[in-house]
Amino acid sequence: MISVTDDEILAIYHRHAQERFAADDPRWKELVEAQRRKQGKRRLKQAVLGAVSSRYDRTQEKVRDTYEESWGATSAVDMVNATDVDLCEWRGEGALVRAPATPAVHHLLLTRTLEALQPKTVLEVGCGSGLHVMLLATLFPDAKFHGAELTAAGVRQAEKIQALPRLPQELQEFAAQPVVDATAHRNVEFRQTSAVDLPYEDGSFDLVYTSLALEQMEEIRDAAFASVARVARRHVAMVEPFRDFNEEGIRNDYVRSRGFLAAHVADLPRYGLKPVYTRSDIPCKVALGVGLVIAEKAG
Ligand SMILES: C[S@@+](CC[C@H](N)C(=O)[O-])C[C@H]1O[C@@H](n2cnc3c(N)ncnc32)[C@H](O)[C@@H]1O
Repeated sequence: MISVTDDEILAIYHRHAQERFAADDPRWKELVEAQRRKQGKRRLKQAVLGAVSSRYDRTQEKVRDTYEESWGATSAVDMVNATDVDLCEWRGEGALVRAPATPAVHHLLLTRTLEALQPKTVLEVGCGSGLHVMLLATLFPDAKFHGAELTAAGVRQAEKIQALPRLPQELQEFAAQPVVDATAHRNVEFRQTSAVDLPYEDGSFDLVYTSLALEQMEEIRDAAFASVARVARRHVAMVEPFRDFNEEGIRNDYVRSRGFLAAHVADLPRYGLKPVYTRSDIPCKVALGVGLVIAEKAG
C-alpha cells in the first residue's frame, strides 16, 4: 500500500548512528544484556509494588503532568537536535543512534502514507509540540492539517514555531523529502483537547493519524480509539507500539512496566477500524517495538 525502500530507511538510520555493531559483537551483547536486566528489574518492581500502590499506574493525570513538563522545556527543534543516544536494532544490526533517528523513520512512514492516500483533511491526535504535523503540512501544502494535543505546553511550543515566517531550517532538513512550502506550517490549526473529547464533527478528516500517542492512553484506550475512529472519514494511521510488536523479552518488560498500549492490531475492528496495512520491520529501540498500522473505517 505504501512504498518505503530499505535504502531510504538505512540512509536515515545510518545518518544518526554513532556506532554500529554486528549482532554477535560482544560489546553489543553486553549493552543489550544491561538493558534486559534494567527492564526486568523495573517490571518486577512494578509487578510487586504496583499491586499495592497506584503510583505505578499510567493515569491520564500523570501523562498530562509529565508532558506539560517535558514540552515546557522541549520544542520540535530541540527534538531534532537531541544528542542523547538510544540502543536500536534492525535486521540483526545493533547501533547506538541519536534520539532523532526513530522519529525520522516514523516521519518517513507518515510521509509515504500521505503520498499514497492523498488526503485533503488531516488530523494528528496527541501531536505533542507539533513536529510531525507541521512538517507534513509543509510537504503537502494543498491539504488542511489540524493537531489535537492534551497539554497547553505542547500547543504553546507549536505556536511559537508557527509565529516564524518559515519552518526553521533544522526542521526542513529533518523532513523526509524537500519541503514544498516552507510557510505552510503556519496553516496548521492546533487545539488543546483530550483525544476522548475531540471537538470535531463525525467523519471530519480524510486521514486521522497518531504517533506514539495512543501508547500513552491505555487508561482511556476504548474511548480514545472510538473517538479517533469517529472523526475519521476514511483512514486512520497509527505509528504505535502495538502489543504485537512487543510480545517478548526486553520489549515485553518495558511496555508492561510502563503501562503502555496493550491493544493488538486484531483489536482494531472492535473500534470500527479494519487494518489494511502493517509494517513493523523498521529500526526500533531495543526496548520498544513500534510499527505503522493503517486502518480503514468500516461501513
Ligand atoms: C510520546 S508523545 C508523542 C508526541 C508526538 N505525536 C510525536 O510523535 O512527537 C505523546 C503525546 O500524547 C499526548 N497525549 C497523551 N494523552 C492524550 C490525550 N488523552 N489526548 C491528547 N493527547 C494526549 C501527550 O501529551 C504527548 O504530547
